Amino acid sequence: MDKFVIEGPTPLQGSIPISGSKNAALPLMAAALLGDSPTTITNIPKLRDIYTFNNVIRVTGCKVDFDEEDGILTIDPKHLSHLEAPYELVRKMRASFYMLGALLGKFGKAKVSLPGGCAWGPRPVDLHLDGMREMGADITLDQGYVIAEAPEQMEGGTFTLEPSSVGATVNLVLASVLRAKEFTIKNAAREPDVVLLCKKLVEMGANIEGIGTQTLTIRGVDTLEGIAIRNASDRIETGTFMIAAAMHPQSNVTLTNVDVDDLGGFPETFSKTGADMTINKDTIHIKAPETINPVSVKTEVYPGFPTDLQAQWSTMMTQANGKSSVTDTIYYDRFSYVPEVVRLGGDMDVEENTVHIEGKNQLKGASVMSTDLRASVSLVLAAMVAEGHSDVLRIYHLDRGYEDLEEKLTNVGANIKRVAQEK
Ligand code: EPZ
Repeated sequence: MDKFVIEGPTPLQGSIPISGSKNAALPLMAAALLGDSPTTITNIPKLRDIYTFNNVIRVTGCKVDFDEEDGILTIDPKHLSHLEAPYELVRKMRASFYMLGALLGKFGKAKVSLPGGCAWGPRPVDLHLDGMREMGADITLDQGYVIAEAPEQMEGGTFTLEPSSVGATVNLVLASVLRAKEFTIKNAAREPDVVLLCKKLVEMGANIEGIGTQTLTIRGVDTLEGIAIRNASDRIETGTFMIAAAMHPQSNVTLTNVDVDDLGGFPETFSKTGADMTINKDTIHIKAPETINPVSVKTEVYPGFPTDLQAQWSTMMTQANGKSSVTDTIYYDRFSYVPEVVRLGGDMDVEENTVHIEGKNQLKGASVMSTDLRASVSLVLAAMVAEGHSDVLRIYHLDRGYEDLEEKLTNVGANIKRVAQEK
């Protein structure tokens, strides 16, 4: 089990290339199973979650080739025959649950393990299952597995997501594009990952109306063809590095390979910190402010403030000049990073689904424990501005969603090393 050893404080100076998006790639990989011919996806990051999903897809008999060097993934569904996603793999990565929509949509049959909970509490999939039932599928649960069956063509209907859900929208679109007469999703997610999936399914031959709105109407078609797709760049990685660049007063960073249009309302909120931000076609230049303005945020569905950036934002606010608060309305208890940032000297206090922060406190190096993907990167951001030596433990969480993190940070001046930790 590796750890990061970080010496701080260090300003970040130079340019950082943004990798392909994990959360945009996973739905596209599931959609490839719906085609009658191979699909090729470029700009795919070398991440543990991608490797896991490759294996989930291989279990079905699909041929999966991943050219890691060039980030090119080819999925050939010609020999897909085993309609199951096993617990051993699904428990490693929740989004494997997209196999339910893909297999049910293509073959009218699927056996997929329930994903189980995660580091910050129960993450139910009731909307996925209820939506498929509304569509006309027969859904039963047996020994931790979802058993799904559907006729050649399901009647369809209308299903309202409450709350709006990225995963449920993805799964219901995958299940309906080949198999539902007409199915309407109300309060559908509008995250860029969902929009990209729908656009690419239409290019494969699907019939989807209302893409990018909260109402999606899908009319089933007979067949879909494989296509070539460029995966989006990672908007959460982009936001993470924008925050990292603002946290040390001498930092001056340019982010490249950015999909600026996918950032929603984040740049506007970010500019309130006082950071100097210049956005061009696919690059963002950040010059840190002398002092960071305290800016309170409340997470929302897209294009609102993303819950996947709340830990990083709260950590930055420990370096702001004054009080602020961060409320998470998507996940009520996604604050496992707080006691760790407090160990580094941050002044933070959680009350229900809000963390109250008082800055600026000079952080001091310490050993801290990662608990999940976004919590762990916030500890790296804190350790890079903390005085002295920090150990960030259990960084396997980071490897799920940040490609070449220590290389990218070292290239812009951070003092960060990956060290294998004795068992
Ligand atoms: C996606 O998760 C992302 N994961 C998450 O990013 C992200 O935090 C989340 O969307 C919200 O933006 C991927 O894209 C792989 P949801 P997902 O269904 O689809 C409730 C990361 O760090 N809900 O939109 O699982 C749910 O509990 C990950 O990269 C139900 O109640 O999230 C939550 O409160 C972490 N019933 C809310 O909806 C359901 O059936 C939004 O969840 C489904 C969801």
